[in-house]
Amino acid sequence: MTAHQRLGINVDHVATVRNARGGSNPDPVRAALLAKEAGADGITAHLREDRRHIIDGDIGRLVKEVALPLNFEMAATEEMVAIALKHKPHAACIVPEKREERTTEGGLDAAGQHNNLKPMVARLRDAGIRVSLFIEADPRQLAAAVSLGAPVVELHTGRYCEIESAERAAELVRIQKAAALCEQLGLECHAGHGLNYENVGPISAIPNVRELNIGHFLVGEAIFVGFVPAIREMRRLMDLARAVAKS
Ligand code: PXP
Repeated sequence: MTAHQRLGINVDHVATVRNARGGSNPDPVRAALLAKEAGADGITAHLREDRRHIIDGDIGRLVKEVALPLNFEMAATEEMVAIALKHKPHAACIVPEKREERTTEGGLDAAGQHNNLKPMVARLRDAGIRVSLFIEADPRQLAAAVSLGAPVVELHTGRYCEIESAERAAELVRIQKAAALCEQLGLECHAGHGLNYENVGPISAIPNVRELNIGHFLVGEAIFVGFVPAIREMRRLMDLARAVAKS
């Protein structure tokens, strides 16, 4: 049997809309509670250095008020490590972060940043936090994740989602190969970024991808159909893709 593939819902862009006006609406914690009602397996939130969407208070509230594991996306900085150690989320996903980017562009250079990352991964792990690294589907980066002692990697699907036809097929193969390599290396494999109803199937169908993290598309779709139906439709498409892949 193919293991259940978890769906983590990223609530960052509920906070983007809130912050456009200031104040407290729409509340990302309320969105996280609805995600639970819709059958989500976890909540993901990225506290960026510039606090453009999720703010510090959201993290404490997500941990306390939502009975789902929190995946805390964070840059590899002392400030973020201290916040993770304070709130002790279920998981911390280390992502590359540039102030000028609109969203996380490209994966973390786990290989090039070995000396900076090694003690951070160790401190997070020692606190009982499951560490993942958001990387490109590149064997060199997977090997670096192993040497850093990270138990999980999240493969960046942004390029796969952005490009068309033949190139997309080639990127999918790269992701499939990286997922298979994770299995050999003993890494738990997650994937995310840019996923929507149209492109989720082939990624969801990869047997050992244990978790998808999806946000921006679902928050947009919620405007038209509501957050709970939008998440349920994503869940349905994931289950369908996995059932077809198995048959
Ligand atoms: N996973 C990681 C590590 C991310 O940084 C993001 C974007 O914040 C996502 C998943 C979700 O991407 P999207 O919002 O495009 O679905």
